[in-house]
Amino acid sequence: MTTLFDQAAEYIKTRTKYRPTTAIILGSGLGKLADSISEADIIPYSDIPHFKASTAVGHKGNLIFGLLDRTPVMAMQGRFHYYEGYTMQEVTFPVRVMSRLGIRRLLVSNAAGGINPAFAVGDMMIITDHINFMPNPLIGKNIDEMGPRFPDMTTVYSRALRKRAHAAAAELGVTLREGVYVAETGPTYETPAEYRMFAMLGGDAVGMSTIPEVIVARHCGMEIFGMSVITNCAKDLSESCQNDGDDVVRAADRAADTMTELFKRMVNE
Ligand code: HPA
Repeated sequence: MTTLFDQAAEYIKTRTKYRPTTAIILGSGLGKLADSISEADIIPYSDIPHFKASTAVGHKGNLIFGLLDRTPVMAMQGRFHYYEGYTMQEVTFPVRVMSRLGIRRLLVSNAAGGINPAFAVGDMMIITDHINFMPNPLIGKNIDEMGPRFPDMTTVYSRALRKRAHAAAAELGVTLREGVYVAETGPTYETPAEYRMFAMLGGDAVGMSTIPEVIVARHCGMEIFGMSVITNCAKDLSESCQNDGDDVVRAADRAADTMTELFKRMVNE
Protein backbone atom coordinates (compact mmCIF):
# COMPACT_ATOMS: atom_id res chain seq x y z
CA MET A 1 0.00 0.00 0.00
CA THR A 2 1.32 3.46 -0.87
CA THR A 3 1.27 5.67 2.19
CA LEU A 4 1.45 9.46 2.46
CA PHE A 5 5.08 8.97 3.56
CA ASP A 6 5.81 7.10 0.33
CA GLN A 7 4.12 9.77 -1.77
CA ALA A 8 6.25 12.51 -0.19
CA ALA A 9 9.41 10.36 -0.51
CA GLU A 10 8.72 9.54 -4.16
CA TYR A 11 8.23 13.22 -4.98
CA ILE A 12 11.46 14.17 -3.18
CA LYS A 13 13.38 11.56 -5.20
CA THR A 14 12.28 13.29 -8.40
CA ARG A 15 13.84 16.55 -7.15
CA THR A 16 17.30 15.32 -6.16
CA LYS A 17 19.82 12.75 -7.27
CA TYR A 18 21.25 12.42 -3.74
CA ARG A 19 20.41 9.30 -1.74
CA PRO A 20 21.93 10.15 1.68
CA THR A 21 21.80 7.90 4.74
CA THR A 22 22.35 10.79 7.20
CA ALA A 23 19.80 13.51 7.98
CA ILE A 24 20.17 16.66 10.07
CA ILE A 25 17.33 18.62 11.69
CA LEU A 26 18.32 22.24 12.24
CA GLY A 27 16.83 23.94 15.28
CA SER A 28 15.96 27.57 16.04
CA GLY A 29 18.69 29.91 14.80
CA LEU A 30 20.80 26.97 13.62
CA GLY A 31 19.57 26.89 10.02
CA LYS A 32 22.74 28.41 8.64
CA LEU A 33 24.51 25.04 8.69
CA ALA A 34 22.53 24.59 5.49
CA ASP A 35 24.72 27.25 3.81
CA SER A 36 27.67 24.87 4.17
CA ILE A 37 25.95 22.18 2.15
CA SER A 38 27.47 22.35 -1.32
CA GLU A 39 26.05 21.38 -4.70
CA ALA A 40 22.68 21.59 -3.00
CA ASP A 41 19.20 20.77 -4.19
CA ILE A 42 16.76 22.92 -2.22
CA ILE A 43 13.16 21.74 -1.96
CA PRO A 44 10.69 24.09 -0.22
CA TYR A 45 8.34 22.25 2.12
CA SER A 46 5.43 23.87 0.30
CA ASP A 47 6.33 21.86 -2.84
CA ILE A 48 6.27 18.48 -1.10
CA PRO A 49 2.99 16.53 -0.94
CA HIS A 50 1.59 16.39 2.63
CA PHE A 51 4.35 18.58 4.14
CA LYS A 52 3.26 21.53 6.30
CA ALA A 53 4.76 25.04 6.31
CA SER A 54 7.11 26.02 9.15
CA THR A 55 5.92 29.16 10.99
CA ALA A 56 8.40 29.44 13.88
CA VAL A 57 10.87 32.36 14.16
CA GLY A 58 14.37 31.43 13.05
CA HIS A 59 13.08 28.56 10.90
CA LYS A 60 13.00 28.48 7.13
CA GLY A 61 11.05 25.73 5.45
CA ASN A 62 13.36 23.80 3.13
CA LEU A 63 14.71 20.32 2.65
CA ILE A 64 18.28 20.57 1.49
CA PHE A 65 20.16 17.72 -0.18
CA GLY A 66 23.85 18.02 -0.94
CA LEU A 67 27.36 17.51 0.37
CA LEU A 68 28.47 18.45 3.88
CA ASP A 69 32.21 18.35 3.39
CA ARG A 70 32.23 15.24 1.20
CA THR A 71 29.31 13.36 2.70
CA PRO A 72 25.85 13.39 1.12
CA VAL A 73 23.29 14.61 3.65
CA MET A 74 19.71 15.68 3.85
CA ALA A 75 18.91 18.65 6.09
CA MET A 76 15.66 20.06 7.37
CA GLN A 77 16.07 23.82 7.53
CA GLY A 78 13.23 24.47 9.94
CA ARG A 79 11.17 21.98 11.87
CA PHE A 80 7.55 21.71 12.92
CA HIS A 81 6.71 22.39 16.56
CA TYR A 82 3.74 21.16 18.53
CA TYR A 83 3.19 24.72 19.84
CA GLU A 84 2.54 25.90 16.27
CA GLY A 85 -0.66 23.89 16.43
CA TYR A 86 0.45 20.87 14.42
CA THR A 87 -0.51 17.40 15.55
CA MET A 88 2.25 15.08 16.68
CA GLN A 89 1.72 13.14 13.43
CA GLU A 90 2.40 16.34 11.47
CA VAL A 91 5.42 17.26 13.61
CA THR A 92 7.01 13.87 12.99
CA PHE A 93 5.86 13.28 9.40
CA PRO A 94 9.25 14.31 7.91
CA VAL A 95 11.09 11.72 10.02
CA ARG A 96 8.94 8.93 8.62
CA VAL A 97 9.57 10.27 5.14
CA MET A 98 13.30 10.24 5.93
CA SER A 99 13.00 6.61 6.90
CA ARG A 100 11.31 5.88 3.55
CA LEU A 101 14.16 7.72 1.81
CA GLY A 102 16.72 5.39 3.40
CA ILE A 103 17.98 7.64 6.23
CA ARG A 104 19.67 5.53 8.92
CA ARG A 105 21.33 8.22 11.05
CA LEU A 106 19.71 11.37 12.43
CA LEU A 107 21.50 14.40 13.90
CA VAL A 108 19.09 16.76 15.67
CA SER A 109 19.80 20.18 17.07
CA ASN A 110 17.85 22.68 19.11
CA ALA A 111 18.04 25.87 21.14
CA ALA A 112 17.41 25.16 24.79
CA GLY A 113 17.26 26.81 28.18
CA GLY A 114 20.03 25.87 30.58
CA ILE A 115 18.81 24.37 33.84
CA ASN A 116 22.16 23.00 35.05
CA PRO A 117 23.72 25.90 37.01
CA ALA A 118 27.16 25.08 35.58
CA PHE A 119 25.95 25.95 32.06
CA ALA A 120 26.45 29.34 30.38
CA VAL A 121 24.79 30.91 27.34
CA GLY A 122 26.55 29.64 24.22
CA ASP A 123 27.45 26.23 25.68
CA MET A 124 26.70 23.20 23.55
CA MET A 125 25.26 20.12 25.24
CA ILE A 126 25.27 16.62 23.84
CA ILE A 127 21.95 15.04 24.72
CA THR A 128 22.61 11.84 26.65
CA ASP A 129 19.00 11.13 27.59
CA HIS A 130 15.65 12.87 27.73
CA ILE A 131 12.50 13.40 29.77
CA ASN A 132 9.33 13.85 27.74
CA PHE A 133 6.57 16.18 28.90
CA MET A 134 4.93 16.29 25.47
CA PRO A 135 2.30 13.91 24.10
CA ASN A 136 3.93 10.80 22.69
CA PRO A 137 3.86 10.85 18.85
CA LEU A 138 3.47 7.07 18.71
CA ILE A 139 0.04 7.15 20.39
CA GLY A 140 -2.47 5.60 18.00
CA LYS A 141 -2.38 2.57 15.75
CA ASN A 142 1.16 1.29 15.41
CA ILE A 143 2.71 1.33 11.95
CA ASP A 144 4.10 -2.20 12.19
CA GLU A 145 6.20 -1.93 8.98
CA MET A 146 8.11 0.93 10.59
CA GLY A 147 8.74 -0.35 14.08
CA PRO A 148 7.47 -2.12 17.22
CA ARG A 149 4.42 -1.19 19.29
CA PHE A 150 6.55 -0.72 22.41
CA PRO A 151 9.94 0.65 21.37
CA ASP A 152 12.89 0.37 23.73
CA MET A 153 14.11 3.73 25.02
CA THR A 154 17.12 2.69 27.08
CA THR A 155 19.66 3.38 24.36
CA VAL A 156 18.28 6.25 22.33
CA TYR A 157 21.33 8.48 21.89
CA SER A 158 24.18 6.66 20.18
CA ARG A 159 27.29 6.23 22.31
CA ALA A 160 29.45 5.97 19.20
CA LEU A 161 28.19 9.31 17.88
CA ARG A 162 28.63 10.96 21.28
CA LYS A 163 32.24 9.76 21.33
CA ARG A 164 32.74 11.05 17.82
CA ALA A 165 31.31 14.45 18.83
CA HIS A 166 33.78 14.76 21.69
CA ALA A 167 36.65 13.84 19.38
CA ALA A 168 35.51 16.42 16.81
CA ALA A 169 35.12 19.06 19.52
CA ALA A 170 38.65 18.35 20.79
CA GLU A 171 39.98 18.97 17.26
CA LEU A 172 38.16 22.30 17.26
CA GLY A 173 39.30 23.21 20.79
CA VAL A 174 35.70 23.30 22.04
CA THR A 175 34.41 21.60 25.19
CA LEU A 176 30.99 20.03 24.95
CA ARG A 177 28.64 19.63 27.89
CA GLU A 178 26.52 16.53 28.31
CA GLY A 179 23.09 16.28 29.82
CA VAL A 180 19.44 15.37 29.93
CA TYR A 181 17.05 17.31 27.68
CA VAL A 182 13.55 17.96 28.97
CA ALA A 183 10.84 18.76 26.43
CA GLU A 184 7.63 20.57 27.18
CA THR A 185 5.03 21.89 24.75
CA GLY A 186 5.72 25.63 24.99
CA PRO A 187 5.06 28.21 23.70
CA THR A 188 5.58 29.74 27.17
CA TYR A 189 9.05 29.66 28.62
CA GLU A 190 9.28 28.22 32.12
CA THR A 191 8.41 29.99 35.33
CA PRO A 192 11.26 30.02 37.87
CA ALA A 193 9.42 27.31 39.83
CA GLU A 194 9.15 25.14 36.70
CA TYR A 195 12.89 25.47 35.99
CA ARG A 196 13.53 24.40 39.60
CA MET A 197 11.17 21.45 39.17
CA PHE A 198 12.93 20.28 36.00
CA ALA A 199 16.29 20.59 37.78
CA MET A 200 15.00 18.42 40.63
CA LEU A 201 13.80 15.84 38.12
CA GLY A 202 17.27 15.53 36.64
CA GLY A 203 17.04 17.84 33.63
CA ASP A 204 20.02 19.86 32.40
CA ALA A 205 18.33 21.76 29.57
CA VAL A 206 14.74 22.37 28.50
CA GLY A 207 13.15 23.06 25.14
CA MET A 208 10.02 22.74 23.04
CA SER A 209 11.12 20.31 20.33
CA THR A 210 13.32 17.36 19.35
CA ILE A 211 11.84 14.56 21.45
CA PRO A 212 8.89 13.91 19.10
CA GLU A 213 11.29 13.48 16.15
CA VAL A 214 13.69 11.42 18.25
CA ILE A 215 10.94 9.05 19.41
CA VAL A 216 9.79 8.45 15.85
CA ALA A 217 13.38 8.06 14.62
CA ARG A 218 13.98 5.54 17.40
CA HIS A 219 10.80 3.70 16.39
CA CYS A 220 12.18 3.47 12.83
CA GLY A 221 15.50 2.14 14.17
CA MET A 222 17.71 5.13 13.32
CA GLU A 223 21.01 5.93 15.00
CA ILE A 224 20.47 9.23 16.83
CA PHE A 225 22.63 12.15 17.94
CA GLY A 226 21.18 15.22 19.64
CA MET A 227 22.73 18.54 20.51
CA SER A 228 21.32 21.55 22.40
CA VAL A 229 22.73 25.03 22.15
CA ILE A 230 22.15 26.76 25.47
CA THR A 231 20.58 30.11 24.56
CA ASN A 232 19.40 31.28 27.99
CA CYS A 233 19.94 30.11 31.55
CA ALA A 234 17.45 29.76 34.37
CA LYS A 235 20.08 31.01 36.80
CA ASP A 236 20.36 34.36 34.93
CA LEU A 237 16.65 35.18 35.25
CA SER A 238 15.74 38.32 37.17
CA GLU A 239 13.24 41.17 36.99
CA SER A 240 15.54 42.94 34.54
CA CYS A 241 16.66 39.89 32.56
CA GLN A 242 13.79 37.84 31.18
CA ASN A 243 13.47 35.20 28.49
CA ASP A 244 12.99 36.57 24.99
CA GLY A 245 12.63 34.63 21.74
CA ASP A 246 14.85 37.05 19.77
CA ASP A 247 17.71 36.65 22.26
CA VAL A 248 17.32 32.88 21.95
CA VAL A 249 17.65 33.02 18.16
CA ARG A 250 20.65 35.41 18.39
CA ALA A 251 22.47 33.16 20.88
CA ALA A 252 21.83 30.13 18.67
CA ASP A 253 23.07 32.04 15.63
CA ARG A 254 26.39 32.75 17.38
CA ALA A 255 26.86 29.02 18.07
CA ALA A 256 25.82 27.92 14.58
CA ASP A 257 29.31 28.11 13.04
CA THR A 258 30.82 25.87 15.69
CA MET A 259 27.95 23.44 15.38
CA THR A 260 28.42 23.36 11.62
CA GLU A 261 32.11 22.47 11.99
CA LEU A 262 31.26 19.76 14.51
CA PHE A 263 28.56 18.22 12.34
CA LYS A 264 30.87 18.32 9.31
CA ARG A 265 33.39 16.24 11.18
CA MET A 266 30.75 13.92 12.57
CA VAL A 267 29.15 12.97 9.27
CA ASN A 268 32.47 12.13 7.62
CA GLU A 269 32.94 8.39 7.48
N1 HPA B 1 12.60 26.90 27.72
C1 HPA B 1 11.99 26.23 26.73
N2 HPA B 1 12.40 26.27 25.47
C2 HPA B 1 13.49 26.99 25.19
C3 HPA B 1 14.17 27.72 26.16
C4 HPA B 1 13.69 27.67 27.51
O1 HPA B 1 14.24 28.29 28.44
N3 HPA B 1 15.21 28.34 25.55
C5 HPA B 1 15.16 27.99 24.23
N4 HPA B 1 14.11 27.18 24.00
